[in-house]
Amino acid sequence: MNWQIELRRVGKEYNERPVLQDISASVTAPGVWTILGPNGSGKSTLLKIIAGLLTPTEGEVVYLHNGERLNAQQRRQVVGMVAPDIALYRPLTAIENLRFFARARGVRVQDGDLLSLLEQVHLRSRAHDPVATFSTGMVQRLKVLTALVHRPPVLLLDEPGSNLDEAGMEFIRHTVRVQAEHGIVIVATNDTRELDYGEPLIQLGA
Ligand SMILES: Nc1ncnc2c1ncn2[C@@H]1O[C@H](COP(=O)(O)OP(=O)(O)OP(=O)(O)O)[C@@H](O)[C@H]1O
Ligand SMILES: [Mg+2]
Repeated sequence: MNWQIELRRVGKEYNERPVLQDISASVTAPGVWTILGPNGSGKSTLLKIIAGLLTPTEGEVVYLHNGERLNAQQRRQVVGMVAPDIALYRPLTAIENLRFFARARGVRVQDGDLLSLLEQVHLRSRAHDPVATFSTGMVQRLKVLTALVHRPPVLLLDEPGSNLDEAGMEFIRHTVRVQAEHGIVIVATNDTRELDYGEPLIQLGA
């Protein structure tokens, strides 16, 4: 299976203020790439455009599977994303959040598999606790799982290591490695701990 994402002359303005201009790039599975740049340079904006959550002002992002172009709905199903402004449902428990995100992606996952996922981030014993009772780092670990629950071929990570301790960072590194063996990972970051994930794809605001 061959996955490819092409950015074709992407530009974005917010209220006529340009943030991104004329960005072209192409990535093919398997592999990991980084989007680098200082605060406010447009990393999160670009990642949201790649995810299909934001529409570019100019250009387009095209997903290809074995050379066939995916439509917007197909694209949603192949993407998993972790971002600071994607929120979990705080009154729901950890496992309820995972069930919700799986269902939103159109997949049914057995509770046993969800518990195994939670085990990987040391949250199994908290599976039935509301997310409102979690620490910031625990929320971030759970967020990463919600992006993985449907086993997406494309994983988009916006500062995935934020609020994570060394064990949490190691889980992210492991997740990136495993994903990059068969799929595509794109990491947006300016955290020096995350800079060596992969080849720089785009350097913004340089
Ligand atoms: N919804 C929005 N409406 C208006 N302007 C926005 C919006 N979102 C982002 N911007 C602006 O776009 C620019 C890029 O923001 P973005 O969040 O993409 O940067 P970033 O590189 O991810 O920054 P950081 O490293 O702080 O996360 C900033 O000037 C920001 O103010
Ligand atoms: Mg950002």
